[in-house]
Formats: sequence, structure tokens, C-alpha cells
Amino acid sequence: MTADLKPTDPMNSDDLHPDAPRQKSPLKWMALMMGILIVLTITTMWDKEKISIKASPKMPELSAQAQHGRDVINTKCSECHGVDGTGGSRKGPPILHSQYRREIFPDFQFKRAMFEGKREKNWRFGAMPPVDGITEADADAVITFVREVQDFNGIE
Ligand code: HEC
Repeated sequence: MTADLKPTDPMNSDDLHPDAPRQKSPLKWMALMMGILIVLTITTMWDKEKISIKASPKMPELSAQAQHGRDVINTKCSECHGVDGTGGSRKGPPILHSQYRREIFPDFQFKRAMFEGKREKNWRFGAMPPVDGITEADADAVITFVREVQDFNGIE
């Protein structure tokens, strides 16, 4: 673009006749179109991320405690985290996600989310309110369920 401004550029030179046709640069239009395209791409990806985060883990044989955890998830969490915590809702991410594997998401953080809620941070679903009427035993069972499924699927 700056090349256009050089006085030696014949197309812009002042010693052309004032009525001589000047070439208009298509560059700024191209830049504008690129800008619009980029914005459109980002906004569509943004929306897709919101509706289609779905995990499809294989279900192992569950221990009794894990089965209880699964029931807790399907009564108290599935509205936002999907059936069995596999996501697919517009209100929360899957809990059975590698992001919540032991190594980077230890048990106490699970508990904290359940008892204290969680501000919007890693996703764009909004905040999670503290879960009503959840007991320490329910919370432990939820974690056992999540870990058994993660282990079975090699998510450590
Ligand atoms: C009203 C919707 C809603 C309900 C009900 C809900 N959650 Fe959440 N949860 C969310 C959202 C939204 C996030 C993501 C917050 C973020 O952006 O990091 C989240 C995040 C989490 C996290 C990750 C927290 C962190 O520190 O990153 C865990 C674990 C979790 N939820 C577990 C549960 C469990 C277990 C239940 C049920 C006992 C439950 N949630 C019920 C909406 C919900």
C-alpha cells in the first residue's frame, strides 16, 4: 500500500494530467473481505464449539460406588453435562473429557466444583452454580465413576 504513495510511482505522480485516469488499488477491498471472512469463520467455530462438545467413552463394568456416581450425574449434572457426563448440551462441557483427567484435574477440584460451583473459565457455557443437595458420599461416587471410565478409556 505504501508503494502507492511514492512520488516516483507513475500512477500517482503529480505530473500526470489532472484528468488522467488513475488506477484504484483493489487492496483495501481485498483486506476488508479477508477481515469479514476471518470474523465469520471464528464466529461459526465459536458456535459449533458450544453445541457439539461430546465425548463418547466406552463404558466399563462399574463398581457399585461408581454406579451410584453415574446416577448422581444423571440426576444432578446431566442437564448441563449430558447423559453420563458425556456432554452434548448447550449448558456445559463433558465431564468425561481428557481435560478432567487425574493428572491435571485432581479429585479435590472435582469436589470444589460440585460444592462451590465454578466461574466461566475453560469453556463458553457460562458459570456453574454450586450443586444443590449433594453429599460428600455423592461427590466421592461421582469422582469414582469418572475415574473408572477414564481409566477404562486410557485417559489418565
Ligand atoms: C447449571 C449447569 C450445571 C450443572 C447442573 C452442573 N454443572 Fe458442572 N459445569 C457447568 C459449566 C458451565 C462448567 C464450565 C465452567 C468453565 O467454563 O470452566 C462446569 C464445570 C464443571 C467441572 C470443571 C470445573 C473446573 O474447575 O474446571 C466439573 C468437575 C463439573 N462441572 C462437575 C459437575 C458435577 C459433578 C455436577 C453434578 C453433581 C455438575 N457439574 C453440575 C455447568 C453445570
